[in-house]
Amino acid sequence: MRGPSVTPFYAGDIGVRGAARVRAGLPFVPMHYGQPSAGAPAAAIAAAHRVIDRDPLGYTELVELRERIARHYAEAHGLEVDPARILLTAGASAALVAAYATMFRPGDRVAVLRPGYPAYRNTLTALNLMPVEIHCGPEQGFHPTRAQIEALSPAPQALLVASPANPTGAMLDATQLGELLATCRTRGIRVISDEIYHGISFGQRAVSALEIDPRAVVINSFSKLYRMPGWRLGWMVVPQDWAARIHAVLINMFLTPSTLAQHAALAAMDEREDLERWVRIYAQNRTRLIEGLAALGIRKIVPPDGAFYLYADIGHVTRDSMQFCLRAVDECGVGLAPGIDFDPVDGQRFVRFSFAVTPEEVVDALGRLAAWLPGYADHGAGASA
Ligand SMILES: Cc1ncc(COP(=O)(O)O)c(C=O)c1O
Repeated sequence: MRGPSVTPFYAGDIGVRGAARVRAGLPFVPMHYGQPSAGAPAAAIAAAHRVIDRDPLGYTELVELRERIARHYAEAHGLEVDPARILLTAGASAALVAAYATMFRPGDRVAVLRPGYPAYRNTLTALNLMPVEIHCGPEQGFHPTRAQIEALSPAPQALLVASPANPTGAMLDATQLGELLATCRTRGIRVISDEIYHGISFGQRAVSALEIDPRAVVINSFSKLYRMPGWRLGWMVVPQDWAARIHAVLINMFLTPSTLAQHAALAAMDEREDLERWVRIYAQNRTRLIEGLAALGIRKIVPPDGAFYLYADIGHVTRDSMQFCLRAVDECGVGLAPGIDFDPVDGQRFVRFSFAVTPEEVVDALGRLAAWLPGYADHGAGASA
């Protein structure tokens, strides 16, 4: 093979071991993947049942869904977005590929934050683009600073930003995002805003990059707030004059996203009460987890503003996050994502907890960790405070 090679998602190994435990009838609390353990809203599932009985399920791009998403921007962000600018994709993942494939030439540099979602950099690498990592550690609240963007030399073609972010849950408020986008504009850096965790926040409202820069490329998905990760549906909002070209790439690479998912998603978007009920559950889980981990001596946590993740510094316990996570599955029955997925440099001392699970699962996980953690001895490089 002559193409570039990329790292896998290490959390996938945790998932495989967790699934083996479940098959063997052993307990397992799945906090490793970034996916809600509750399925899609009931109305979405009912809509899918109705459609499958009457529709031949051909290739589809549902105009009604693009219009409904446009209405969402009016209601949630006070923005008028022409549905022609909204492209339906097979998840935010396909949106990311389409954005990269259309906006850049091989060799172009694109800035991403570290820690960050692994596919940002790995997909860049796979497409012969060059990720430029900006280190945004806990000491700066996992936020990029203006000085860091100004210091990028040469200026990258684009900056990929997410608020709330994975794996930290860090959010940029309107002022911070405005400052970041203004700095990018001054330097001629395009912005791709991954807004996949919008709707899941614990205080402030998430600001869309479109509120500040109408030419930002926004990607989003039904995988998180709408609890439909396996349905594989997302969208992107692109500048009007780019829409036809990006759509051409999407059609060639993926044809259309799942027809069944589009009908279900249309129904899911009206389930506000159900969606918000789960966000309230995540908020409770967040508090319980922060308190419970503190009681276990895990206190180096920047409380997440949004998404459903807690990125904890466990450097006093291990300097080998993968070994820690593998043993957490096998010895304790708790699935966690190793920091090396998100940060190839400092990730050995971090783990990510996903709290998009039930409150009972959070309590169960804390109980298991309380019984296991005090006896944990790092077999690797050793830990230090
Ligand atoms: C920040 C972020 N962006 C994009 C994705 C891809 O999501 P999907 O393709 O399911 O929409 C994920 C998945 O976890 C994510 O965390």
